[in-house]
Amino acid sequence: MQRSKISIIGAGNVGATCAHWAAAKELGDIVLLDIPDKEGVAKGKALDLACCGPIERFDSQVIGTSDYKDIANSEVVVITAGLPREPGMSRDDLIETNVKIVRSVSEKVAEFAPNANVIVVSNPLDAMVYTAWKVTGFPTHRVMGQAGALDVARYRAFLAMEIGCSVEDISALLLGGHGDDMVPLPRLTSVHGVPITDLLSIEKVTACVDRAKVGGGEIVKLMGTSAFYAPASGTIQMAEAIIKDKKRIIPSAAYCQKEFGVGGYFVGVPAVLGSGGVEKVVEFKLTADEQKLFNESVSHVKDLVAVVTKMFPDLA
Ligand code: NAI
Ligand code: 2OP
Repeated sequence: MQRSKISIIGAGNVGATCAHWAAAKELGDIVLLDIPDKEGVAKGKALDLACCGPIERFDSQVIGTSDYKDIANSEVVVITAGLPREPGMSRDDLIETNVKIVRSVSEKVAEFAPNANVIVVSNPLDAMVYTAWKVTGFPTHRVMGQAGALDVARYRAFLAMEIGCSVEDISALLLGGHGDDMVPLPRLTSVHGVPITDLLSIEKVTACVDRAKVGGGEIVKLMGTSAFYAPASGTIQMAEAIIKDKKRIIPSAAYCQKEFGVGGYFVGVPAVLGSGGVEKVVEFKLTADEQKLFNESVSHVKDLVAVVTKMFPDLA
């Protein structure tokens, strides 16, 4: 049986760490691609990772390259190419440079891996997913963004720290864009089925929510660049669901037309991920307050897409 193949564009912090998690899970053969100037970095990291195989017991091939021919027949392509945040920058400050980068990468992905499912990670996430979709021309179910998997993991981690329980027992969901206006849903957060508000005061839950909202910024301030372990872990959770056709429900930036009243944008919603990419958006009724917060978050996503289409009218 042929192994699955996952290609990761951008061999920087997030890209290389995606390769690391993918190898650790033995998801399949891994291609780590960067620009020609950084080909040595891609090759070096790939070789270093390949040498972990005997210790970690994976047989995946890991190669580094700058040649898009190597991504042919990928089941999943992860796009991490682009500038990360520096202290004081918001994700939105990256828009012009990263649209150009994601655009050039997406053209190559469409040419060399036309059947792949694409997971976009580059920021500002919601605008970059839109860009990748427009440029590849792929059907909406094969283009998605990683943000919710990370944001919900942060939220669950902070709650577990507060309660002193296993992170595994916390079940939670977040909606909306990958921004500080993401929408947490304490109503749907539980600890092994027990509503979170039975175990923690609403003030403590809100503090965890607020920390998750700015979780990315907290790490940028500490280390001068953006996070990569958890972002890559969330991305590979999505890739695994697709490659193994697990049909997992993972909060993902997925295309919503009628769902949640979005009207044709990629926003963070619970999505069933399987071999068909985003196989379904799981829609459920929001309370009036939740819908209001969600609409605000979606309107920020719309603003970002409007910035993209104003700068690059051919992407409208
Ligand atoms: P990094 O600077 O460590 O790596 C980026 C890599 O992309 C570099 O190796 C660079 O050479 C490469 N690159 C640039 N242009 C390219 C092109 N045209 N083709 C191929 N490769 C190209 O940055 P890092 O930390 O890995 O972040 C990558 C992106 O992911 C940033 O935009 C960052 O904001 C975003 N990010 C998104 C998260 C999310 O949850 N969605 C979380 C963390 C980061
Ligand atoms: C994060 O949330 C910067 O989007 C990145 O860590």
